[in-house]
Amino acid sequence: MKRIVILISGRGSNMQAIVQACAEQGWPARVVAVIANRADAQGLDFARQHGIATAVVEHTAHGSRAGFDAALAHAVDACAPDLVVLAGFMRILGADFVGRYAGRLMNIHPSLLPAFPGLHTHRRALEAGCKAVGATVHFVTAELDHGPIVMQSVVPVHPSDDEDRLSARVLATEHVIYPLSVRWFVEGQLRIDGARVAHTAGASQIWI
Ligand code: GAR
Repeated sequence: MKRIVILISGRGSNMQAIVQACAEQGWPARVVAVIANRADAQGLDFARQHGIATAVVEHTAHGSRAGFDAALAHAVDACAPDLVVLAGFMRILGADFVGRYAGRLMNIHPSLLPAFPGLHTHRRALEAGCKAVGATVHFVTAELDHGPIVMQSVVPVHPSDDEDRLSARVLATEHVIYPLSVRWFVEGQLRIDGARVAHTAGASQIWI
């Protein structure tokens, strides 16, 4: 059984999608803990209701990024994870933290990386006149919203779209591609080769 730890900052809808898929599809894995950097992260309630251990490591309690990263690593290591999943975790993690979990730290970002790293992705994509947007699951490297891409979803932009409508449609695809990517990892079906990630049986790594 692979051990998964999920880090969240808020709503946690991607975390919920992963927990549900893991249970319903009988993955060879278990979500052993959900850790938040905010005590008021809504997703913590879902985790508690589903009998998953929770912890809070508040970034505000630490004077430096390094101090927070060390406290977070301490909490994560206590769970002995095979995979650490960032699901709407809105703190930048330093090179030491990222290096500690190299090859077993995944993130989802609501854009077609390498386009639009950072915040307000849908607003920026609309302003740029993009005709298609999407989401990216990737292994985390020290560079923000960067790293070997596991899977992407592609969502057409409609002329009537605003930020809310677009983000809702992209989020619905996140709930497909993130559980699938995590499932592939725990089943040992992903091979990282430099900047590229391949599915060993050649499954499609794009969701349209
Ligand atoms: C998701 O859209 C996720 O892609 C994004 O935050 C949202 C979290 O929603 N993550 C980032 O922007 C990371 N750079 P959720 O808490 O409901 O999963």
